[in-house]
Amino acid sequence: LKAPYCEADIGSGETGCGVSPPSSSKLLIKGGTVVNAHRQQSADVYVEDGVIVAVEPNLKVGDDVYVLDATGKYVMPGGIDPHTHLAFEFMGTEAVDDFLSGQAAALAGGTTMHIDFVIPVNGSLTAGFERYMEKAKDSCMDYGFHMAITKWDDTVSREMEIMVKEKGINSFKFFLAYKGDLMINDELLLEGLKKCKSLGALAMVHGENGDAVFEGQKRMIELGITGPEGHSLSRPPLLEREATARAIRLAGFVNTPLYVVHVMSIDAMEEIAEARKSGQRVIGEPVVSGLVLDDSLIWDPDFFTASKYVMSPPIRASGHNKALQAALSNGILQLVGTDHCGFNSTQKALGIDDFRKIPNGVIGIEERMHLVWDTMVVSGQISVTDFVRVTSTEGARIFNIYPEKGAILAGSDADIIILNPNASFEISARSHHSRTDINVFEGRRGKGKVEVTIARGRVVWENDELKVVPGSGKYIKMSPFSYLFGGIDKADVSYLSSLNAPVKRNKSPA
Ligand code: URP
Ligand code: ZN
Ligand code: ZN
Ligand code: ZN
Repeated sequence: LKAPYCEADIGSGETGCGVSPPSSSKLLIKGGTVVNAHRQQSADVYVEDGVIVAVEPNLKVGDDVYVLDATGKYVMPGGIDPHTHLAFEFMGTEAVDDFLSGQAAALAGGTTMHIDFVIPVNGSLTAGFERYMEKAKDSCMDYGFHMAITKWDDTVSREMEIMVKEKGINSFKFFLAYKGDLMINDELLLEGLKKCKSLGALAMVHGENGDAVFEGQKRMIELGITGPEGHSLSRPPLLEREATARAIRLAGFVNTPLYVVHVMSIDAMEEIAEARKSGQRVIGEPVVSGLVLDDSLIWDPDFFTASKYVMSPPIRASGHNKALQAALSNGILQLVGTDHCGFNSTQKALGIDDFRKIPNGVIGIEERMHLVWDTMVVSGQISVTDFVRVTSTEGARIFNIYPEKGAILAGSDADIIILNPNASFEISARSHHSRTDINVFEGRRGKGKVEVTIARGRVVWENDELKVVPGSGKYIKMSPFSYLFGGIDKADVSYLSSLNAPVKRNKSPA
């Protein structure tokens, strides 16, 4: 089939291309349990022209309406993945999932919006932004952008302002790792934090000490450890703790909110817990790989098996995953991302003689909703309403797009999934929609399946068939000063008033 329904080249596995997408712009989802983060209720959901019009029991509608029966199923906001890297140029190669294939995969897994990271071009934010708008032009679902800050000067500082005030970016990522590439130092981090605060933009941090990682890598090579396990051994949880703690302290010093991306260890999680206990506004994002996997296979003698799991910070030893799940269930960590960054086995082989050259990254954009459902809800660790909160609503609130996104409410965008708790899912690279030939969750199965995905009122996933429309996705501008900034200025005023006026002193001995 040709566009607008689907492109045969999406994904390495079954594309599930289908015919007869409902052409109606009116939809009724009948008889389901509608779940929002604040409550669940039995209700129908009526959609017109991409927007939810009514959420009420027993809605009566005309016969030009496409009806979906959700009896016995959950009707929930589509997932928002706050952390992806589509078409990311990194470590001498480019992630294989572009905006179309990555988003098609997302939709097949019940995610209807993602926020990707713009990387500046030679330090230029404007050039980076334009480049990513071009990369994203065939989008089939809504997307937004964070932006990385990789150098500092007056131009960057001015461009941050333009990004926030004109381009709809309200978050900036600072990499404390990847020395010689994306890594920045503390001086830059401080400048960035101050600027973020003044703009009402959220500072995000990759918490690993890149100088120490560099040292750790040298040690491994000197010891003759060149395989994928060298990746894990060279960057232990200690270095994640150090950088996470440092970023938290500096954000506290500046008094601005901080978002820690891909929290992979108990160590980093504990630092976040401590800071939150003291009242600091710190958000912690675990990613699905960190929540459900462990590092056992990185020791596999087969390079192709082991290298699949290379990402940064590394997937940790068994035990960290369970602790991260617990932290998600009790509110120490707030929302789940993926860090979706798909490389295939040919790309992973760039590091066959040296783990430092294995492109860092794993996938998850299609798997996140199912794995969080199975690991957290089916196991009884969180409620169904909390599932909605950690996969959708909290991301919408943090990035200031709630309730347009992240809710099933009259007036919200019609980004909706129907999840059947009695059906099951199974994950395999043979059937996933990512272009990679690798799936780190290979063979996992579990209870709960996203049977229908609706993106802006369009049924894009039904009966295991994708019907995406390239170009139909919209760029979502995100405004600064989310709820995380409420009252921050009051804390500054009380801090300043707690200081005494300058002490008057003599210029010469009395
Ligand atoms: O290994 C990873 N995480 N790759 C993507 C880049 C990043 O650090 O988020
Ligand atoms: Zn097709
Ligand atoms: Zn990162
Ligand atoms: Zn990332």
